[in-house]
Amino acid sequence: MISNSQCDRGISFVGCGSATPQKIITNDQLSQRVDTNDEWIQSRTGIGERRVISENESLIDLATHAALNAVKMANWDVKTIDLIILATSTPEDLFGSSPKIQSNLGASNAVAFDLTAACSGFLFALITASQYLASGSMKRAVVIGADQLSKWVDWDDRKTCVLFGDGAGAVAVEAVNDETGLIGYDLKSDGSKGDCLNLSQSNNFLDLIPGASYQKGEYFPIKMQGKEVYKFAVREVPIILGEILDKYQIKSDKIDWLLLHQANQRILDAVASRFSIPSEKVLSNLKFYGNTSAATIPLMLDEAVRDQRIKSGDLIACSGFGAGLSWGAALFYWHGPY
Ligand code: ACO
Repeated sequence: MISNSQCDRGISFVGCGSATPQKIITNDQLSQRVDTNDEWIQSRTGIGERRVISENESLIDLATHAALNAVKMANWDVKTIDLIILATSTPEDLFGSSPKIQSNLGASNAVAFDLTAACSGFLFALITASQYLASGSMKRAVVIGADQLSKWVDWDDRKTCVLFGDGAGAVAVEAVNDETGLIGYDLKSDGSKGDCLNLSQSNNFLDLIPGASYQKGEYFPIKMQGKEVYKFAVREVPIILGEILDKYQIKSDKIDWLLLHQANQRILDAVASRFSIPSEKVLSNLKFYGNTSAATIPLMLDEAVRDQRIKSGDLIACSGFGAGLSWGAALFYWHGPY
C-alpha cells in the first residue's frame, strides 16, 4: 500500500483530452456473434455499445490525440513537458508505446514510459507522475490511459466480450507552489487474487535446438470470474474511498463528482449508495463505451469537463480497480480552464 505524505509541492490538474475509435458495435450487433441480447447487457452492466479500433486507426494514434487535446487545453508548449506516462495493458510494442507518443507530440524534452496496472493503470500512473512533480524534479506531466482490449477479448465468450471497448484519455498535470489539486490518494494490490481476472501468457514451449527449448511469446484471451471481481469492487472501493475521506476529514456531501472506473453501472450505483451520493453526481458513460480499461477515468473526466458538468474548483472522488487485483482512489480538485 502507498498513501501520500505531506508533499513539498502541490499538483494541479490543468488539462484533459480523449479520443475514441470511430467504429461503434451495438449490443444488438454483438448478438449476431454470441448468444446475448441488449436487455441482458443493459440490465446487468449499463453498457449499450462499445467502440473498436479498426484497420485505419491505432492505439498510439488515439493516445496521441488524447494527449494533444490535454496539452492544448492546458495551453502548454509541448517542449515544456517533462514526463509522459502511458498506462496501458495493450501496448503496440511490448518494449513500450509511450516513446512513440512522445515523438508524435514533438515533446522532445519529455521522458516517456509505459505503466501496467490494468483498469487501475490510469490512477497508478497519475500518482506515479505526482511523485515526480511533488519532489520538484519535474514540472509538467501528461498521464495517458489507453487500451485496446478488443484485441485480447475472446469474441466468442459472451461472459467477457460484451464488457469491453477501446479508447484513450489523458490529463495534463503540473507542479504548483500554492493551492493543490491532488488532496490525497491510496493504492493497493492483492496478487493472491490475480486469477480472478487475467490476460496471461501461454505456456507454449517449442524446440530450439536438440536439448533446449524456448517459450513462444503469445497470450491467452482475457479470462474473468465476473462475480468475484464484482464482489471485490463493491467491497474494496467504498473502503478505500472512505479511508481517504476520513483522513482528510471531508464529508461525502462535499463531493461534487464521483468518478469511478467504468466497469459496470451496478458497481457505480452500489458505491454511490454507500456514501449517499445522488445519481446526478455519479459520472457514467458506460452506455457508450463499455469498459475501456485504463482509459475509462480520463475519458469520463474529459467528457464531463468539455460539456461543462465539471467546473473549475469542483471536488472529485475517484477510484479505479481491476486486474492484479489492483485498486486505488484519489481525491482531487479540477483546476482546468472550463
Ligand atoms: N448475455 C446473456 N447471458 C449471459 C451473458 C451475456 N452476455 N453473459 C453471461 N450470461 C448468462 C450466464 O451464462 C448465466 O447463465 P446461467 O445462470 O444459465 O449459467 C447468467 O447469465 C448469469 O451470469 P453471471 O456471470 O452470474 O452474471 P452476473 O450477474 O455476475 O454479471 C458481469 C456478469 C456483468 C460480468 C458481472 O459479474 C460484472 O460486472 N463483474 C465485474 C466485472 C468488472 O468489474 N471488471 C472490472 C475489471 S476489468 C479489468 O481490470 C481489465
